Amino acid sequence: MLKQPIPTLHRDGDTVVILDQTLLPFRTQTAVLRTLADAAHAIHSMQVRGAPLIGATAAFGVALALRHEGSTDETLTRALEVLGTTRPTAVNLQWALARMQRTLRHLPRTQRLAAAWAEAAAIRADDVATCAAIGGHGLALIRELAARRDGPVRLMTHCNAGWLATCGAGTALAPVYAAQAEGIAIEVVVSETRPRNQGLLTAWELRAAAVPHLLIADNAAGLLLMRGEVDLVITGADRIAANGDTANKVGTYLKALAAHAAGVPFYIAAPHSTLDFACPTGADIPIEDRGASEVCRIRGSTEAGDIAELELAPPATCAANPAFDVTPAALIRAIITERGIVAPGELARLYPEEVR
Ligand code: MRU
Repeated sequence: MLKQPIPTLHRDGDTVVILDQTLLPFRTQTAVLRTLADAAHAIHSMQVRGAPLIGATAAFGVALALRHEGSTDETLTRALEVLGTTRPTAVNLQWALARMQRTLRHLPRTQRLAAAWAEAAAIRADDVATCAAIGGHGLALIRELAARRDGPVRLMTHCNAGWLATCGAGTALAPVYAAQAEGIAIEVVVSETRPRNQGLLTAWELRAAAVPHLLIADNAAGLLLMRGEVDLVITGADRIAANGDTANKVGTYLKALAAHAAGVPFYIAAPHSTLDFACPTGADIPIEDRGASEVCRIRGSTEAGDIAELELAPPATCAANPAFDVTPAALIRAIITERGIVAPGELARLYPEEVR
């Protein structure tokens, strides 16, 4: 299973070091988080992004808060509040903070800081193991398709659900890396994922790992699916409701519709920390609105190698920027979890302890 070439997040003494994803794919640079504010900023500004990585960063953010502000009840409450409002859609954030709260709230103050570091490290390790297990289950699907084809298996994905979005090998891309390690020929179709272009991060990851891939404009996905140029679609998820409806990066729903029309199986790959049995359906999932500027501006690299932003539309242009959409369970063939592959409506059978 793929080992992260650069850790997306790790502890270094009393600080936390992250790979700054706002500079990718142009520059590989780390940033140091020292305080609660640093951690909250990293999540909100998308220096770290991807549901599992957001959760792990929030957990370390709690440890940073206790380290700098003392281990009082007030510090803990404030850290949970500040981090809990950084991004609304990925439930992994709330999952990680709830786990930190359960671990820390009944402990004497003198034990809290060490316990916070330890629990954050356990959340990170949990994600590494979870990604590996998802990769193993997804590999079985790819193996089956490979056995039926002469050429490479053609997998479409959306956004970035690779190692950059997690602490391990990724969710949707973990099966790809597992297939590559087994010598299965595979090609990945990657949609650019406007407006933040997380697909460019996926292409960057795949290029570095020497996985053949094809970057397409978001709007080309339907044509490729209709022409029979894709064997399966796998995307990640930010929150899966009790009925299997799934929130993921905006544009996922359109791919699921096109895949359905073309008879191409559409899968979601996600860990237990993305399940939200308290959320009955997709209509109950909060969708983040990131504001007009991300739609009206674009970031890229100049010929001189500087990272620059360009205006695509005059500043007063009215624009909407819902960052996620919801794919109804009926369009999802199955969900690839660390415990196995199940139909969306069967998640409760796989995770009985999560159902309240
Ligand atoms: O806004 P982002 O970049 O945090 O959104 C990320 C996604 O939507 C991913 O596809 C999702 O979190 C799955 S992560 C393994």
